[in-house]
Amino acid sequence: MKLGVVVLAAGQGTRMRSRQPKVLHQLAGRPLLAYVLDAAQAAGADRLCVVYGHGGEAVPEAMAGVTCTWVLQAERLGTGHALLQAMEAMADMDRVLVLYGDVPRIEASTLRQLIASAARTALGILTVVVEHPDGYGRIVRDHDGQVRRIVEHQEASEAERAIREINTGILVADRARLDAWLARLDNDNAQGEYYLTDVVALAVAEGFPVATTQAATMAEVSGVNDRVQLAGLERQVQRNHAERLMRAGVTLYDPARFDLRGDLTVGQDVTIDINCLFEGQVELGDGVSIGPHCCLKNCRIGAHTRIFAHSVIEDAQVGAEARIGPFARLRPQTQLADRVRIGNFVEIKKSEIGAGSKVNHLSYIGDTRIGTGVNVGAGTITCNYDGVHKHCTEIGDGAFIGSNTALVAPVTVGAGATIGAGSVIHRPAPPDRLTLTRAPQTTIDHWRPPAKKPPPG
Ligand code: UD1
Ligand code: CA
Repeated sequence: MKLGVVVLAAGQGTRMRSRQPKVLHQLAGRPLLAYVLDAAQAAGADRLCVVYGHGGEAVPEAMAGVTCTWVLQAERLGTGHALLQAMEAMADMDRVLVLYGDVPRIEASTLRQLIASAARTALGILTVVVEHPDGYGRIVRDHDGQVRRIVEHQEASEAERAIREINTGILVADRARLDAWLARLDNDNAQGEYYLTDVVALAVAEGFPVATTQAATMAEVSGVNDRVQLAGLERQVQRNHAERLMRAGVTLYDPARFDLRGDLTVGQDVTIDINCLFEGQVELGDGVSIGPHCCLKNCRIGAHTRIFAHSVIEDAQVGAEARIGPFARLRPQTQLADRVRIGNFVEIKKSEIGAGSKVNHLSYIGDTRIGTGVNVGAGTITCNYDGVHKHCTEIGDGAFIGSNTALVAPVTVGAGATIGAGSVIHRPAPPDRLTLTRAPQTTIDHWRPPAKKPPPG
């Protein structure tokens, strides 16, 4: 049995009030559509097809990595018409599953249940029972509980509007039967659209019982129509992330103030203070603690390292038992060994720093290799850029760089060297010696400050 999946994503998303197609808006750092495509794959799709809308060329571009067929629905003539556009791409499939690009929280397990429920018939639909069914298509059943048809809200009678079982839109159908039903749809209804939902009555008329599966929660099948709903889903997703991490042994000081846009792998007894954001692939070793207001993206933090408040770390690796921040910035290609200390208002870029070395205050270290046990004094700057090229700095083991030193790259400081405070070092500083550049200090005798003018009048 070959399963084709069609994702309808041609809606304009007018209520998003955005230049960006709705399905590219982000949920926990990924486009809405990406979640749907994942669910389709996980449900066992043998072929994937996305129906996108006029003006939505950005959608296939944004999803360039995904293997699927893109079909343009040039005119938005209804869900039935949208699906029809994709049926050619489904020609060699046995069954077709229909999903929606703006319903991102659908679970593969629910889809598999739906597919299984329809194993012996030509049509299965996913429904859900809700408190307020307004606006949705209602599931009309007969006295035996058999589904007769779906009636859209606009066409529904008073009695039908009282039905609380609604159509999620998600369905699975025999491909050949679906082809025949779609060919028979008309747009003779309140909205002048080709309703996909009309296939239900067609299946019933042909004697196929319609299988139904009920989604456990509305949250799983609710669509995103505006940014308020998007923000609502975002909070649900974040709440789930937070709960999963807490159950895995992470202390979150406030799960409502925690955001993950990617994958967070954690050791034991990790603690995370409020308002932290994790993006991409982040790995935290045993006993790591993250202070409040930190942003960590694509990084690995070694065991028992402490990151203090307001630190920003991106594409970097930090060893064990290090101390970072508060207010530290580790930029891409930074590698810090064990027990390194990076203090406040220090920026490190594309540099390696050896075990136990310290850069504690107000420094910029770029394109630099620092050995072990080095002390970099406050306000030290590596001058790595001459306006055209980037140059490297090397500092040997055990060196001591005095405060307010400018290291004009390319330059080396030997192991065990001491650099006097305030130096501008532009030639190699030999190992184990004191090197400094410093204008002699002078005091001018007999100097008097200029006399102040007497006040007028
Ligand atoms: C549809 C269902 C309704 C169901 C509801 C669930 C129909 C006729 N009605 O109603 O029973 O309760 O979804 O949310 O199917 N789309 C296209 N091309 C089109 C029209 C729609 O791609 O020409 C896509 C939209 O991008 C959207 C989805 O189909 O993702 C649903 O369209 P929408 O207009 O929101 O359907 P509803 O009228 O809400
Ligand atoms: Ca809708």
